[in-house]
This record gives sequence, structure tokens and C-alpha cells, in this order.
Amino acid sequence: MKKLITTLLGFLAVAGFASTPTFTVDAARGVGTVSPTLYGLMTEEINHSYDGGLYAELIQNRIFLDSTTKPLHWSVVNDAGSAATITLDPTNSFNDKLTTSLRLTVTKADKKNSAGVANDGYWGIPVQPKTIYRATIIARAEANFSGPVTVSIVSDNGGKLFATEKISGLTTDWKKFEVTLKTGRITPTAKAHFVITLNQPATVWLGMVSLFPPTWNDQPNGFRKDLMQMLVDMNPKFLRFPGGNYVEGDTVDTRFDWKKTIGPVEERHGHPCPWGYRSTDGLGLLEFLNWCEDMKSEPVLAVFAGYALKGAHVNPGADLQPFVQEALEEIEYVIGDTNTTWGAQRAKDGHPAPFKLHYVEVGNEDWFDKSKSYDGRFAQFHDAIKAKYPQLKTISTIGNDQPEETRVHSRKPDMSDEHYYRSVNEFIHMSPDYAKKYDRNGPEIFVGEWAAYETSFPPWDKRSQKEPPTPNLKAALGDGVFMAAMERNSDLIKMQCYAPLFVNVNPGGRQWRPDMIGYDALSAYGSPSYYAFQMFSQNVGDEILSTASIETSVQGSATRDRQTGEIFLKLVNPQTNAVALNLKINGGAALMSKGSAITLAGNQNDSNSLAQPKKVVPLPTTVRGVKPGFTYKMPPNSIVVLKLKPSSH
Ligand code: AHR
Repeated sequence: MKKLITTLLGFLAVAGFASTPTFTVDAARGVGTVSPTLYGLMTEEINHSYDGGLYAELIQNRIFLDSTTKPLHWSVVNDAGSAATITLDPTNSFNDKLTTSLRLTVTKADKKNSAGVANDGYWGIPVQPKTIYRATIIARAEANFSGPVTVSIVSDNGGKLFATEKISGLTTDWKKFEVTLKTGRITPTAKAHFVITLNQPATVWLGMVSLFPPTWNDQPNGFRKDLMQMLVDMNPKFLRFPGGNYVEGDTVDTRFDWKKTIGPVEERHGHPCPWGYRSTDGLGLLEFLNWCEDMKSEPVLAVFAGYALKGAHVNPGADLQPFVQEALEEIEYVIGDTNTTWGAQRAKDGHPAPFKLHYVEVGNEDWFDKSKSYDGRFAQFHDAIKAKYPQLKTISTIGNDQPEETRVHSRKPDMSDEHYYRSVNEFIHMSPDYAKKYDRNGPEIFVGEWAAYETSFPPWDKRSQKEPPTPNLKAALGDGVFMAAMERNSDLIKMQCYAPLFVNVNPGGRQWRPDMIGYDALSAYGSPSYYAFQMFSQNVGDEILSTASIETSVQGSATRDRQTGEIFLKLVNPQTNAVALNLKINGGAALMSKGSAITLAGNQNDSNSLAQPKKVVPLPTTVRGVKPGFTYKMPPNSIVVLKLKPSSH
């Protein structure tokens, strides 16, 4: 057929009838149902996604465990008339989880000359005007200390006091103190630090120091409001967590050990994350689940499956059984009744109602396991999960993007996870045929990680470190063609999510690019890829329509809302020239002559940043003259969502 079209086109060209670039939608031919869960999010602790990112804690190294030799991010503050020293004190700790403390010894101070300790936050402490911050401090003092202890937020330059309060009542016993700090009319800044001072010589020990700004929905131990709003605006239907490599850990011991991430934060020891820094585990299992609920999304729970990043694997059979049990208990924590052990624990932690859960992913990228143990490991998890929770679907981490022989054969996974980090050109070339040949009776497909990169080298190449953390418009065009392909095949591609989601753009903040959303302590922005995703996820019907294109590099997809009859046409022009596209909406759909468009366009190298957060954003326009055949001019380098309403329905 392809040959016939090519031959025909060749004949027309020779005969002088060059055909115009045409994109055809057959509105009479619904070819499948759009997966209602197609668009979602993937997340893990990478690029300071949580600590120094979404998790709103402002104190870095709040339990002093980031290094065993020095109190990173903490420093002495004093003036000409005062002096102090600080040191880690593992012999004096609040409990067996916070295994060290910070000893502050003020050797010289008086009412006018205080001394103490300062924390520089995650690249600064962000302060906003007329805002209440909540500080929590676990502390004890030497005998006969009568206080007070002063806590303040202070500017880096000139020591301007943004907010201050006093704590009294320290004794030789460990105690938790909570205090609120209120700022006045100030200009927002992240050039600030948090300070704890004494105005007399004394020794005090700090077990934990925490500071939170107002959070999303005012949740305690909650999330940054600006970032949550950006996520909600993506209309995500699911959240894949906690990884990614983060679920695996570098070693079995440093996996995401969910039981250590629940309960009061002062009971959480934290753990080294595979991306080179220590995770507080402040954003633990319950916070992930609350996060899903807050976004009206469902969890896609990844469980540790006996393979760690540095190559260790656990043999299927008796050795693996404790980890299978750990996963079953984790599932029980998520969906178990309150009369089960872990359901009761969830209720005790503040959430009696079970969460929604349909999918459990067994591991992450297990094709890296050279021992080839995944088939056996998957089977053991799959059988145990199905036996206890027959309603759940299991996801294998080895999908169609990996060689056939590496995939699971002893069981039929309900779904398999494919990962695509591809150059823009690769996406442009693979997308027209993507998933066309997949077995519609095989496992459902989850594209659990994907992103287009605009560089000549892949994200894991060292040169990436020198590139901006977030991608430019060219990359978003690659994203666009691939998203259109996934949407055309969304009878089978049930879920898809870009990765990584977040990056703290400060020097040293990131380990991977390209990332969708960038931020520092004070503000955040979406990359063109963020807006491309949003355009797709916010405008999706429930019926896939048949599409075809000839003589054009424009790729796209069409869906329809069965209830309203509205057609959503997504078109991507990855070329640097405009295209006058002959749009044919066949099949007798009577359309209103006035439609609307949302367009993301610009120069290929255009990108957003903290300094220019809105350089590339989608713009709405009205489209006139819509009819079954009309010409639509696609700007160069553009993604367009056309919304075409039926004239009657
Ligand atoms: O998204 C970054 C990393 O890429 C993920 O942690 C891992 O699953 C993949 O290799």
C-alpha cells in the first residue's frame, strides 16, 4: 500500500500534480479507546527532586548525617564580642534513628553579642513577605542552662533579621520545640540563612532542626506549593514512584526500604540515594501516597525486586522471599484494611482509608542484571502478589525496547515497561511506526520513562553536565512526535510518563539532563517539554481516530470526546519551515467553522529558564474557516493542538 502511494505520488509529480502536504483524520473510524490513564508522572530522588525540591523542608542536613566527619551546611555565627564551636557528637543522640547530634558550645557571649550556628539551606533559605514559617528543633542543654535560645531567618548580606523568635525550657533531657516565625514586608529572596544563637556561654545539643514554609494544602511535612501547582496543571492520572534507580539503591542495603520512611520524621534515619547524596526520607511512602491523592492521581507502586544498581542480585527462592514479603507488606500498607497489620499502621500514621492501587511494578530496568535472574525474580513476586491481591496488575521492567531473550517468559506480565531516552531525530524516525506491530494480545505497555534530548550525545554522557538542565524547544518537538505516537496507540500504551520530572538548577544540584521542571529555592519554571506534555494531557478525548499523512513531515494524532463530539488534533511540525497543511476531516463530521488552537512555537534553540520562565509557552488562538477540508498553516518548529467542535451533537 505504501508502495502504491509512493508510486502514485511519483506519477502525480511527474505529471505536474505535486500533492500538497496532507493530514487526514477519518472521523467515521474510531480505532480504539484512549487509555484514561495515559498521561502521568514519574518521580524519584534525583537532581534534588525532593530534598531541595518538592519536599518543602528548608534546612539541609537537618539531622547532621550528611557526612560522618563534618556538619555539612552548618557553620558558626558570632561577632566581635562572641565565640562558639560546633562538632558532630555521635555519643549524644536523640534516639537510635538520629544517630548523631550537633554540639554547639558557646564560649563567649552576652545579651548584645550572641553566638551560635547557621544553616545555609538548599542553596539558600527562601523568604517571602508576610509568611509564617514553622521551625521544629529537637534539643537538650547542659545542666543549669537557663536559656533562651533564639531562632531567626537572617539575610546573607548585612545580617538583616527577616523573622525571629525565642525558645525557652531546654533541659538536660531531649525535647522537641516548635516555634513559628513570621516575616514582615520584605522583598522575596533566597539569599538568607537560618540561625540558632545563645546569648550566654553554654553547650547545647541539636538532634534535628527543621524549617517549613507554608505547604500545599497546609499539610504538615508537606510540599512546595509552586511545584505542586505545576504538577496538578499537568493533569496527571498516575504517579510512578519511587524509581527509577532510587527504588533499587546502589546496594541492597540502600534500596528504598519503605518501612524506614514512615512514621514521625524524627524516626527516619534517611539513606544514601544512588544519585550521590543522602535522602532524608522525609518524603516517605505515606507522603508519596498523599501526593497522589492531592493530584487526584493513582500510585503506580514500584517495589524493590532483588536487584541493586551496582550489580548485586538476590537469588530467586528462599533468599528472595524476605523481599517478596516486604513488597506484600508494602502493598498492605497502601490498600490493606485497618484490621491488617500494615493497614493499621497506615491509619496510625494518619490515613485510615486505603489508597487506590491497580499496578505494581516489580523492580526497575532489570535488563541490567547480568545474572539473568529477572525471570525467576519476577515470577516469585508476580505469583505472591497475584495470590494475595488477584485484582492487582504486575509490571515487568523489561519491555519491547529490550531484546526478546531478556524479557520475562515464565509468566505473562500484565504490563511491561519500556524506556526511551532518544535524540530528537531518533524520535522523529521511530514515531510513525511506533507500536504499530505490537501484539495487541500481549502485555499492556507502560512507557515508564522517556525524554527527547537535543544534544548530539545521550543524557548519561559527561558532556551533558555542561548543557542547560532543561531542554529547549527542539527537544519538545521530539517529545511531541513521540507523544502523538503513544496517543495513536493508546489502546495498548496504557500509561506514559516523562523522566526525570524535576531538577534543582543550582550548581551541583543535578545529576541528569534533560529534565522537565527547573527550580531554585525561590522559583520554578517549566521547560518547553513541560508545556508540550501539558498540551497533550489537558486535551485528550476518549476515542482514537484513524489518521494518515502524506507529503509532510508533520506528525500527529487525533482523538474525540465521545460525549461532546469535540475532536482534538495534535500536530507537530519539527521542520524549521512553515507548512501549509491540507487538513482533511473525513467521515461526515459536521464541524463548527470556528475552532481553537493552542500553539507552542519559536526558534529551535529557544528555551525557558529561571531568568526567562515564559519565553516558550503555549498560546491560544481562534481558528476560522474550519470545514472537512481546509488549510492550516503550521508555524516552523511547532506543536499545535486544534480543538474542533461539532456543529451539532
Ligand atoms: O531517569 C533517570 C534514570 O534513568 C532512572 O533512574 C533510571 O531508571 C533510568 O536509567
